[in-house]
Amino acid sequence: MSTYLVTGANRGIGLEYCRQIKAQGHQAIAVCRETSTELEKLGVTVETGVDITADESVNNFVNRLGNQSIDVLINNAGIAERVTLDDLDFASMRRQFEVNALGMLRFTKAMLPRLQDGSKIIIMTSRMGSIDDNTSGGSYGYRMSKVAVSMAGKSLSVDLKPQGIAVAILHPGLVKTRMTGFRDEAISTEESVTGLLARVEELSLANTGIFWHANGEVLPW
Ligand SMILES: NC(=O)c1ccc[n+]([C@@H]2O[C@H](COP(=O)([O-])OP(=O)(O)OC[C@H]3O[C@@H](n4cnc5c(N)ncnc54)[C@H](OP(=O)(O)O)[C@@H]3O)[C@@H](O)[C@H]2O)c1
Repeated sequence: MSTYLVTGANRGIGLEYCRQIKAQGHQAIAVCRETSTELEKLGVTVETGVDITADESVNNFVNRLGNQSIDVLINNAGIAERVTLDDLDFASMRRQFEVNALGMLRFTKAMLPRLQDGSKIIIMTSRMGSIDDNTSGGSYGYRMSKVAVSMAGKSLSVDLKPQGIAVAILHPGLVKTRMTGFRDEAISTEESVTGLLARVEELSLANTGIFWHANGEVLPW
């Protein structure tokens, strides 16, 4: 049995990660700002009050964890706000950087003492953060913050390889959650997370730093 820690676990993809991790017989530590009835029903360990944009909140949480070691850290929390060229909302862009890029790095750095040789780190990025794949433009805040988090993930993969820690940068597909307005054409969280957890299994020091679609396709940077 392995111990997985998931941020943004109260809804959407994070909630489904926790459900499937438990169903596979592993321990899930569900980290969120506020819990939800769906999360409480899963019967996993729930840690509330954790805002990844705030040092104190993150450090208090890590202290609460004590000596608990983590096999798989899933950095899933994120936000998406619409920013167009006609309406360049810099406050929104900063918010998206704070959560999507800096928040991931703050949380991961604070968690490093709880990881060990053989642990894995998952960074939930987006294909929207692929420069090569950008043919539709727009989404300045989200796209730029996801490029930044992918780059942070790549640096983490280089820096942590000597410690035996592998890092994957994952795109979940277009998934039916509050973030995407539960769009009809999007795939279910079940389908997405089944693929994502298969990628977690496949991740090793041999392929660390990889940018993967949940379906196994290697994505262009
Ligand atoms: N859905 C998609 O199609 C799609 C596509 C590409 C990438 N992704 C990425 O996949 C991840 C999960 O997305 P989702 O679709 O499941 O989104 P979601 O349903 O909107 O859930 C986002 C989660 O992030 C948490 N969160 C936001 N700000 C936070 C903060 N400051 N501190 C801690 N937690 C915070 C939210 O908590 P609260 O409930 O407290 O707000 C929520 O649990 C995100 O990183 C997203 O960018 C999603």
